[in-house]
Amino acid sequence: MNTAVTTRKQVNVFMSDVMAGLNASPKYLQSKYFYDARGDALFQQIMHCRDYYLTRCEMEILSVQSGEMAALLSGDQPFDLIELGAGDASKSFHLLKALIQRKSLHCYYPIDISANIIAHLEETLPAKLPGLNMEGLNGDYLDMLQMTRQRSGRKRVIMFMGSSIGNFTPPEALQFCCRLRQQMNPGDVLIVGFDLKKHPAIILKAYNDSQGITKAFNLNLLHRINRELGADFNTDNFGHYPVYDPLTGSCKSYLISLAEQTVRIGEAGTVRFRKDEAIYMEISQKYTLEEIHQMMESAGFKPLRHFHDTKKWFTDTVWQCL
Ligand code: AVJ
Repeated sequence: MNTAVTTRKQVNVFMSDVMAGLNASPKYLQSKYFYDARGDALFQQIMHCRDYYLTRCEMEILSVQSGEMAALLSGDQPFDLIELGAGDASKSFHLLKALIQRKSLHCYYPIDISANIIAHLEETLPAKLPGLNMEGLNGDYLDMLQMTRQRSGRKRVIMFMGSSIGNFTPPEALQFCCRLRQQMNPGDVLIVGFDLKKHPAIILKAYNDSQGITKAFNLNLLHRINRELGADFNTDNFGHYPVYDPLTGSCKSYLISLAEQTVRIGEAGTVRFRKDEAIYMEISQKYTLEEIHQMMESAGFKPLRHFHDTKKWFTDTVWQCL
């Protein structure tokens, strides 16, 4: 679903981010680069895979409780709904349907960094949701949010679902929520999806699935560097190693160099890997309800309501900005 059209400038930024990460000690790559066309397809597979429970839990919340959520959000005036990282909108679909039924929705603004995802949504969603008024926005979350603020004097509901917030470390997540708060007006509402702490084995399995899809998802970033930056990674020489620390709630994914090796990264030079050296790929942070409250209240939000699945593994939390 991602666009294949990459500008020269984007390639240069990708190259300098990759070189900065691989020349750092310890080495790292940024997980936002997972999502090229192949990465989007692999992430779709992850969302449907047995061991990755997050999507199923959140889908249960939205398919069962969208009516209640819509009632909670609705007032006397229609509002704008803005979704950060909408993806295929398969989860928000249920909420949109409930809001249209209640005539509570003025306009739906999905924001995504992938132009292709936005084009796809604009093409397909109105047919599936008669009565939907939408405008897709392609770009940076905070820039696009500012645009929707200037454009309408209406109440805005902002959604950040799917545990996307988990890709920030806790201090980064707090900072992001503070920035969101600055973009919002009194009366606006924020909905954030968090993956909750649970038995560590369940969490680890979600990031170490039996079918090897998550491994392929991580290795795809090396393939992407080969394709777009002319590198010569041999992915057979890297293993996938996820860990989960139940004390901190941090699930982290690494790729481990299985041999001493030197990899050429196009024109930018070469990178040496020691045998057993790790590349830090991604954080997927898990929270308790107390930690969520602590963070959101320090960012300036007041709790309205939490929705969770029957297993209480995941929560979509609704916050008010006073
Ligand atoms: C898209 C950030 C929610 O961290 O659970 C899934 C990405 N990485 N499997 C997550 C992901 C490995 C996912 N998020």
